[in-house]
Amino acid sequence: MTKKREQWGTKLGLVLAMAGNAVGLGNFLRFPVQAATNGGGSFMIPYFIAFILLGIPLMMVEWSIGRYGGKYNHGSLPGMFDVMWKNKVAKYFGMFGLFSSIAILIYYTYIESWSLGYSFFSITQSYFGLESFGEMQNFLTSYQGLNTSYFSSIWTAYGFLLVTFGLNFYFLYRGINKGIEKLALIAMPALFIFAFIIMIAVFFVGTPDPVNHPDWNVMAGFKYIWQPDFSQLGNAKVWLAAAGQIFFTLSVGMGTLSAYASYLKEKDDIALGSVATSSLNEFAEVILGGSIAIPIAVAFFGLTQTQEIAAGGSFNLGFVSLPLIFQHLPFGQFLGFLWFLLLFIAGITSSVAMAQPLISFIEEQFNVSKKKAATIVGLGTFAAVNLVVFFFQFGFLDEMDYWSGTFMLVIIALIEVVVFAWIFGMDKGWQELNKGALIKIPKVYYFIIKYITPTYLLVILIVWTIQDAIPILLMDGINPEQVPYRWLSRGLMIGLMVILSVLIHFAWKRNKDRQAQKMMEE
Ligand code: ALA
Repeated sequence: MTKKREQWGTKLGLVLAMAGNAVGLGNFLRFPVQAATNGGGSFMIPYFIAFILLGIPLMMVEWSIGRYGGKYNHGSLPGMFDVMWKNKVAKYFGMFGLFSSIAILIYYTYIESWSLGYSFFSITQSYFGLESFGEMQNFLTSYQGLNTSYFSSIWTAYGFLLVTFGLNFYFLYRGINKGIEKLALIAMPALFIFAFIIMIAVFFVGTPDPVNHPDWNVMAGFKYIWQPDFSQLGNAKVWLAAAGQIFFTLSVGMGTLSAYASYLKEKDDIALGSVATSSLNEFAEVILGGSIAIPIAVAFFGLTQTQEIAAGGSFNLGFVSLPLIFQHLPFGQFLGFLWFLLLFIAGITSSVAMAQPLISFIEEQFNVSKKKAATIVGLGTFAAVNLVVFFFQFGFLDEMDYWSGTFMLVIIALIEVVVFAWIFGMDKGWQELNKGALIKIPKVYYFIIKYITPTYLLVILIVWTIQDAIPILLMDGINPEQVPYRWLSRGLMIGLMVILSVLIHFAWKRNKDRQAQKMMEE
């Protein structure tokens, strides 16, 4: 426990690592799908409201909790809550943070590995010549091991998964400074450059078929997202989707931001840092992410079909429509390569963050080296990811995504804000947030964090439970063939929570015993 704690090397490195943590597949794949299926301009209003009232405050809270916990050598939520809330149960509430980050990591790396595979298929033109939506979709499902029309087995996908895992754990093995920070310093500028190049290419697409479809054009896509539409504001589904997107994209409620913040020095700024990270993420999401998939799909398929494509499956826009379109663009092979590499970079800078809380937890609570902790977490998650790979077609991934990547984030965010503003105390919390601050946070955020954010979260949780969680829990409308696998997925998640709780129990017991022994020796 007396070991010197690692720290971020530079301010730029820290901000890029935090931005890398937040900017991910969510910005470029999930956001366009959510915007397209929730009415475009009508989605953006609740989206920005959720950003201001949930996203920014929770980002500030997570940075504050993280830096405070880091002072006591805690890089994960169980320890952080334990020092902020003098209650035996506090650490068990922190378990949820360890759980969600690791559960998301388990399926997230698999999707991340598809993008690596597809960047390779783009440069080698493997999917070139597939002209219809059905063919391209078959290519994807064949890659996922669902049929043998293009790939004779799952092993190609498995190979890319191995490389993805290897890379992730290479950076984690090297630690905060030499691994994650170095990765961010190279990957994040590359990500922004790639996205700019693709965005400019999208602008040049204009109206691809002016004779037959004069209204299918890039501008119509932009108009769809940016023209405010108030007609859907009474629809709870749109508000929930918008809040869910804000959580996922900013990585709030995953325990990963606080894990990174724990490597700050006590007087390092967190006010400007948290606002800068949120802003960078939103820039990447609405400006870059919003300018690629939807506008280009609208130009080639028209608005109605784009909405249908997005509604048809989370990956259809990114992995089916875009490869179809790239074939018709100048330098399409190169653009396809850049698009999927961009996704991969966005993914890996987020997935390394997801492994970090558990690595810190094992390292700090059981006093093992970072390398050993990274190896344990790497092997454990790799074992679990096999279930996602082999039971993909049975909804295993979807089930994990709903409970750990959607529902759980709201629960954790609510716990965090209550611990911070009500148990630790808002006055102390505000002081903590402003310590070393490079900007003055408007006082209205004191009020928002204390009252508005928790109330907003509570309302979301209640409506979400009634509207979505109960029907999903009861597996309404699920193909009976999938039911056992979805239960297996739930079993994995419950098992994970139990294991983590037991680990927390033993870690605290062990540290208490060690302290007692030390005192006796003195
Ligand atoms: N925030 C990360 C993403 O957007 C998890 O993908």
